[in-house]
Amino acid sequence: MADERELVKQVAMALRSIVDPATGRDIVASGSVEELKAGGPGEVDFVLLTGPDDPAGLAEQARAVAESVDGVEIVRMEVRAGGSRGGRKLPVMGQAGGGGREPAATPASPTPDTVPGVERVIAVSSGTGGVGKSTVAANLAVALAKRGARVGLMDADVYGPNIPIMFGVYSRPGITADEKVVPIESHGVKLMSIGFLLDEDTPAIWRGPIVMGIIRQFLQQVEWGELDYLIVDMPPGTGDAQLSLVQLAKVDGAVLVTTPQGVATADVLKGIKMFERVEVPVLGLVENMSGFLCPHCGERTDVFGRGGGSKLAATAGVPFLGEIPLGAAVVEASDSGQPTVASAPDSPEAQAFMELAEKLVGVLQEAMSD
Ligand SMILES: Nc1ncnc2c1ncn2[C@@H]1O[C@H](COP(=O)(O)OP(=O)(O)O)[C@@H](O)[C@H]1O
Ligand SMILES: [Mg+2]
Repeated sequence: MADERELVKQVAMALRSIVDPATGRDIVASGSVEELKAGGPGEVDFVLLTGPDDPAGLAEQARAVAESVDGVEIVRMEVRAGGSRGGRKLPVMGQAGGGGREPAATPASPTPDTVPGVERVIAVSSGTGGVGKSTVAANLAVALAKRGARVGLMDADVYGPNIPIMFGVYSRPGITADEKVVPIESHGVKLMSIGFLLDEDTPAIWRGPIVMGIIRQFLQQVEWGELDYLIVDMPPGTGDAQLSLVQLAKVDGAVLVTTPQGVATADVLKGIKMFERVEVPVLGLVENMSGFLCPHCGERTDVFGRGGGSKLAATAGVPFLGEIPLGAAVVEASDSGQPTVASAPDSPEAQAFMELAEKLVGVLQEAMSD
């Protein structure tokens, strides 16, 4: 059954979030998961090979992670002592949905490594959703690529991945011989999104440990190659998940996106504080949907007033990176599956994105010389 196959695939992906400290690899890649299959609707069976006594608690983690996959009702896991065929059998672990279900265990503590080959990781974040974070991330990435930089764009918004739609890319990434995922290149940018791995109708309801695992995989198991910038499109908000993402990603700096309406709220300041707390420098604030650009006469109307973003940036003591107008070129671009900078490079909106990239590069250079 297609559904069961899909479920098995999701469980496999989820199990890859667990790293065996003994090998430094995830338990699927290291061959510790065997005979993973569907046992019936909502049921998955697999064998986990662990070292003697399982000091890292891999069995408990594997059970918790498998159970937390949406749609999994029953996990039948048989634990065998590592590698030795027909080795010692340990008791079958519990069933999801049964009495006394424990909260999912946290996977082995993340090692916030720098991303191999990547010069700078830059998070694009916002206090709330719908402010144009993905739009800014996508256009910033293409703008930096147009300036000659080597750029990757990672969609860390596992709950609502937007990047596939924004680039009109729906193909599945390839896998190299050493099990690395090959990012999909579009408009000179290397893309990676959970959206490439999910079917369109699969709801992306992930629990904490899985999200962490996916992000870690995106950072460590994607063949990014040599990059000047890895732009990370973050999920909205300042929750725990977001915090851990930042810690996992070893982010070099954050760009915060707000709207003229948003500047009045405390969310932006909360976002800035959060990054400061985890010692990620805030590179600046972008005011998106700033004023309305009339598609007919080009006149700009400041529906919500003007200057709030720069004032807020000044108050918070972070650089102001500029204003992106609310414009038709952005709407049309998102319809056509191309970032505005690529689809309408001469539009004022695209130019605003190009200026944003220039300003950001300036801020980064200044930060380097400090
Ligand atoms: N400057 C803009 N002008 C017009 N539409 C915009 C602009 N920025 C974003 N949008 C639109 O607003 C919606 C939300 O943007 P999105 O980037 O998905 O936000 P987020 O990632 O913060 O949730 C999208 O439909 C996008 O096309
Ligand atoms: Mg988004």
